[in-house]
Amino acid sequence: MAAAVVRDGRFILSSVVSSQDAIHHKYGGIVPELASRRHLETVIPVVEEALNHAKVTLDDIDAIGVTQGPGLVGSILVGLSFAKAVSYVKDIPFVGVNHITAHPMAVFLEAESKSQRVKESERKSKNELAPCPLPLAPAFPFIALVVSGGHTTLFKFKNFGDYEILGQTRDDAAGEAFDKVAKLMGLGYPGGAVIDRLAREGNASAIDFTRPYIAKDTYDFSFSGIKTAALHWIKGQGSGVKGQGENKLAPCPLPLAPVLNDLAASFQEAVVDVLVDKAITACMVHAIDNLVVCGGVACNSRLREKMRIKSKDNGIKLFIPEPSLCSDNGAMIAGFAYQLRKQGVRGSLDMNAMPSMGNGH
Ligand code: KG4
Ligand code: ZN
Repeated sequence: MAAAVVRDGRFILSSVVSSQDAIHHKYGGIVPELASRRHLETVIPVVEEALNHAKVTLDDIDAIGVTQGPGLVGSILVGLSFAKAVSYVKDIPFVGVNHITAHPMAVFLEAESKSQRVKESERKSKNELAPCPLPLAPAFPFIALVVSGGHTTLFKFKNFGDYEILGQTRDDAAGEAFDKVAKLMGLGYPGGAVIDRLAREGNASAIDFTRPYIAKDTYDFSFSGIKTAALHWIKGQGSGVKGQGENKLAPCPLPLAPVLNDLAASFQEAVVDVLVDKAITACMVHAIDNLVVCGGVACNSRLREKMRIKSKDNGIKLFIPEPSLCSDNGAMIAGFAYQLRKQGVRGSLDMNAMPSMGNGH
């Protein structure tokens, strides 16, 4: 559960994220029923904390942004019902947004500094216009790669809320592949960050994983093959690994530990190569020199590094949010809702959750 207060679609006044990782960790993945229950318990305190931290009350809020989809229906319904209730009682318009297309909005956000807050109160007292967009924000059109636990999608954004999907994963999302391979390696859930850490000590050329689709004429992705190759590689390491089927593989025993770093580095490099190649190719083919990379996997240090190198080589301006804005947060939802609200979008009380939401708002 996350909530944030954002001013002018740009300045983050507060951003509160209540992670559920500790709850789902022992199950090796998200348990939907536990997730929605936890959302129910945390929605009020998290929103209250966001308001308190921003030093505002609901009376200062002009619009409420809320995730309409995609995701787990129970969790979405908690947020959506809460947003509708507050909207109705306080007469504040609400906007339902697509979680995936909200991720790139993080690059338009920055934390509000004290001096900006003073300037804002001066601006209001003089009735001046709101500040212009961030000088460091990408220019439209831009290519956006959203890499998260549930999605790997390449977009062309023509404007806020006006985008086209160029490609997406045909099986596992990149984050899902990280998490599954981490589980096979006995590293727990979610495992992306642990693989990232181990990979720093490993040799990325130690194991030659095929880069799926890299040479193919498509912007779609596929990561389940790399995951299976990792499984076979682990099994091939011999007697130490007690496998009971793909998903029940026991944690790697200690004798394997030295090679875990190489496995992490080689697997990570294969995934990163595909992501970098597809994103840069999309920029070149569409003659677009602004690229946004976001979503939880964009926290990955090697992905950030390689994207930076390849973007520079190809004259592309790269925008990657700071890690706290790459992984799920309320500020990106608020930022996107602000832009849609400016275009006149307003949710109605009969809005339903869209767990499989695709290319909409
Ligand atoms: O965007 P996000 O916070 O939530 C979803 O919308 O899914 O992404 C979570 C995903 C998880 O799969 C997690 O393992 C992955 O992001 N992740 C990473 C790293 N940090 C988080 N993957 C690779 N390297 C990281 N450093
Ligand atoms: Zn996400």
